Parts: sequence; structure tokens; C-alpha cells
Amino acid sequence: MKNIDLRSDTVTWPTEEMRQAMARAEVGDDGYGDDPTVNRLEKMAAERLGKEAALFLPSGTMGNQLAIFTHINRGEEVITAEDNHIVQHEAGAAAIIAGAHLRCLRAVKGRVDPGDLERTIRRPHEVPKTGLICLENAHSTGVVHDLDYMGKVREIADRYRIPVHLDGARIFNAAAYLKVDSAKIAEYADSVMFCLSKGLCAPVGSILAGNADFIKRARVKRKTMGGSMRQAGILAAAGIIALEKMTPRLHEDHERALQLATLLGQIPGVRVTMEDVHINMVFIQFQRPVNTDELMAKLGSEGILANPPEDGVMRLVTHYYIDREMVKKAADAFRRILA
Ligand SMILES: Cc1ncc(COP(=O)(O)O)c(C=O)c1O
Repeated sequence: MKNIDLRSDTVTWPTEEMRQAMARAEVGDDGYGDDPTVNRLEKMAAERLGKEAALFLPSGTMGNQLAIFTHINRGEEVITAEDNHIVQHEAGAAAIIAGAHLRCLRAVKGRVDPGDLERTIRRPHEVPKTGLICLENAHSTGVVHDLDYMGKVREIADRYRIPVHLDGARIFNAAAYLKVDSAKIAEYADSVMFCLSKGLCAPVGSILAGNADFIKRARVKRKTMGGSMRQAGILAAAGIIALEKMTPRLHEDHERALQLATLLGQIPGVRVTMEDVHINMVFIQFQRPVNTDELMAKLGSEGILANPPEDGVMRLVTHYYIDREMVKKAADAFRRILA
């Protein structure tokens, strides 16, 4: 990767080992359930999350939406934080596909007040029925929710017999931050989605996991959504390496995010909320007016790619292809340009 690409952890390319494995992958027609590489990945993914079964899917959005589609009946309510990915970035799919009524709760970085959550759950005589609670951990603001919070949500969900879905697009980052096994986080949810293509370098693919009956039903609904694939073992081969080789190294990306946050925080006029740097994401704000077009152009001319600030906040993401030297180079460029 020639540029220092800090736009996202989705920009990662497959590693050489992944490309080799993809070329050699044993395949079959997954529509018939006979792609051995997909079957191996699904089994391995289910084990990593401590769930009975798992399903390989083209994207994380499909994983979340398939979970909602499988958990609820049309018109039921899904309670979620207002700033979760399913609300903000999935193109209104929950209404279109599952016919879900999204009940969005005020939240701080994906975290809702458990009291609000409990008050929002519909009582038995009320309509629409509450059909699902959705969590997101790690949250896309880079913040990881602790297990105590997840436990509180689970306890409320259990009391009202409502299933919980976890958008765990970056569950392995959350696990690395909390220093727990991914299954420990997944244990608070009935279904979990995670992405193989975010920070783990697989080119395509996400997983939805849950109990055997849930996944059996999701497999049928995946067909409805057009997500059933054929010789998908070519992609699953990279996913297997993502799980085996890439998850154990995520702490390196977190260390580089901390390094970047520390260096940027030393630049006059740049504010970094250090306590929110949990995973591979750094958010910065400028404390004086900055011509962002000029900033972006100058960064680009030095080979540094970043998304422009949104509402005054700029997100920078580290990943496999960002080493310590590149972090230093990027921070030096910010310092020079902002001087
Ligand atoms: C928290 C979260 N959930 C879900 C997704 C959706 O994944 P995909 O882009 O594969 O559809 C993303 C994507 O960035 C995400 O950050």
C-alpha cells in the first residue's frame, strides 16, 4: 500500500497468504451446502463466538439486516441506540426488508441508559410488540462498551423475553481492548454479526452467528435477500486466515491509534479525546478555524488519505498496512500543514 490510508480499516487488501489461499481454495456450491471452505469458516466462526452455528454473508449490513429479518415479525419494534450503524448507515433497510419499526433511543456513543431501555419496551397489551434489542460493540465511534453494560441490557431483555442482536462488526477489536475472549462478549447476545473485511484484511465477507434453529431460519431468509452464494470458498479462504492470523494482532492497530492520538494531541489547536481511543480509531477536532479543503489537498499531496471532517470532527483509522513509521509521518504532516 503506497499511500498512508487512514480513511478506514475497510481499505485493507488481502495479504499475500490470503491471495494464495484463495487461489488454492477447495470449493463447492454453497447453495447446496457443499462448499468445504465455507463450511469450515462457518464452523470456526461459530466456535470463536461460542454459538451453535454461523452463516457466511457478503456484507455486515446484510448480516445485521438478516438478523432483524429473522428475529422479528413485520411491524414489530426494534430498540436501538440512535447512533448505531443499523440506524445511520444501512439505507433504511430495516423498514424495507424486515418491516421493522426502529425505536431509536438517545445514546452516547452507542450506549443507552438502561432505564430508558426498560421504559421503552412495550408492555403486553401494547402494540407494536417489541421484537428485538440491538447493540453495537465496538461502537463505530471507536468506543468499546464494558461487559457490565452489556450484562445490564441482557438482564432487561431476559426479563421481558426479548432477543438481543449484537452488531459486532469489530467484535475482535472490542475483545482485544477488554482483554477477553470474543465469546465472552457474544454471550450477551442471541445473534452476533462480525465483519471479516474490517481490519482483518479479508476482501469480502461477514458472519452471522446464533443458535442452530436461528441460523437455519436465517439461511432461508438469506436466500430471500439474494445473499446465497455459490463457490464462495474462494472468499471464505481469506476469512479463515482473517480469523486465525489477523485477530490476534489487532492490539498492534490499537497501539498505533494511541501513538497517532498522542502525537496529534501535541499539535497546538488539535483536540483529541484520549479516553475514547479504545480500538483503532482516533477522532480529532480543530480548536481554531481550519480550511479543510486545503488541509485535505495538502495531506493528499503527501500521500496521506483521510476523510474530511464531519461536523468539525475528523476520524483517522489505523490498520494492518499502517506501521509506526507511517503514523509518525502522518502526524508530522498534520503538524506542518496546521502550523
Ligand atoms: C459497526 C458497523 N456495523 C456494520 C457495518 C456494515 O458493514 P458492511 O460495510 O460490510 O456492510 C459497518 C461498516 O463499516 C460498521 O462499522
